[in-house]
Amino acid sequence: MGRKLRCGLAVLAWLVPLHGADVSGARAVEILRANCWQCHSRTMTMSGLDLTTRDAALKGGARGPALVPGKASDSRILEAIERKTKLAMPPAKPLEAADVESLRRWINDGAPWNETSAASAPVSTWWAFQKVTRPTAPKSADRWVHNDVDAFVLQRLKAEKLSPNAPASAATLVRRAYLDLWGLPPSIEQVREFVADKRPDAWARLVDKLLASPHYGEKWGRHWLDLVRYSDTAGFELDTYIHDAWRFRDWVIQALNEDKPYNLFIQEQIAADELFPEDPVARTGTGLFCVGPNRDLFPDQADINREEVLTDYADTTSSVFLGLTAGCARCHDHKFDPISQEDYYRIRAVFAPVTKVKVALNRLESLGYDVADDRQLAR
Ligand code: HEC
Ligand code: HEC
Repeated sequence: MGRKLRCGLAVLAWLVPLHGADVSGARAVEILRANCWQCHSRTMTMSGLDLTTRDAALKGGARGPALVPGKASDSRILEAIERKTKLAMPPAKPLEAADVESLRRWINDGAPWNETSAASAPVSTWWAFQKVTRPTAPKSADRWVHNDVDAFVLQRLKAEKLSPNAPASAATLVRRAYLDLWGLPPSIEQVREFVADKRPDAWARLVDKLLASPHYGEKWGRHWLDLVRYSDTAGFELDTYIHDAWRFRDWVIQALNEDKPYNLFIQEQIAADELFPEDPVARTGTGLFCVGPNRDLFPDQADINREEVLTDYADTTSSVFLGLTAGCARCHDHKFDPISQEDYYRIRAVFAPVTKVKVALNRLESLGYDVADDRQLAR
């Protein structure tokens, strides 16, 4: 290589970090996460190498340190991804050339490593556990903007050099409202009624009317019933009927229709038997634990079936109420969220004392259906 050329390259190498420096290491850690962690982590540590934290990478694997900050050419990570020796990583398919370059540059820049991986992130800083905050809506004097959501929409439209659609006709709007809130199209009479309503608050009146109808709970209860793995039958080969499942279904619909506060809605599903033992309606909420797939899969193996049932309880409640698929940590620490296997069994232990019992039912005329028969209330 001629002297001139080498000098040109040196200038280039000096320029690149100015523009593309991976200051936090986020890009590099993302490359490692996507391509290496499946085999090099705390739980899956091939050749003794864990690449989920800087310390672990410095310590290295069976062959010694994998990372020498500032010296890519001495780092085994680079040897492995350049595939010039027998060590060729990832084994199945080479990294993109751009990713190899990113890692090389990152190591030469000292391998900064902002510890935000699932394995090492302190829970207090994990993105999904931050308090939801209310963003300030963009200020807009545009007449198209009627509320904060509009302000955000308009801001983005402008950024994309687009302008809003013309307002929908009354006939289109009424159809949307019925489908959204009832899941049913309006009849011709219902469309005519709305189109003819010229009062300034006609739209708000329509929405209130639809929300006040029992069809609202029937439509929106379905979304909740999907989340809590509701079905009238128990799945698998036999797909037997869960004869009383509909009681829980109707409880969900009623909760939506009567606007039950969300905290109560949760409490009654997870623990009405403990919190409201005297309230038969609330107790129907814990039907949550009696619907869902059949877990009695192994005839004569009550202990195994019991494990399956407790797993279902822990997995369902964590994904529905915590918004976390903690169930992945049943067999190993969670790969992407900071949930250890130990955490998982602590969650599951909450349900360890639960037993299913048959409850006597009695019709409560004020509701029009049967509820748990607690003498003092059923009167
Ligand atoms: C599918 C599994 C798998 C993936 C993915 C994988 N590796 Fe490996 N890695 C291995 C195995 C197996 C060995 C041991 C190979 C040997 O000893 O010849 C190893 C060894 C290594 C070593 C040597 C460790 C030592 O000290 O012995 C390094 C460095 C390494 N891998 C880096 C990486 C990097 C960097 C990536 C991602 C770009 C990666 N690996 C992706 C399976 C994997
Ligand atoms: C019933 C036990 C069990 C559950 C539940 C489980 N895993 Fe695993 N998982 C394993 C086992 C065993 C291995 C090791 C597989 C191997 O040796 O190749 C593994 C390995 C992995 C790996 C790394 C190896 C690879 O080939 O990708 C990832 C990633 C992973 N699991 C993600 C998950 C996620 C995400 C969930 C939840 C949706 C989950 N696991 C739920 C048992 C489980």
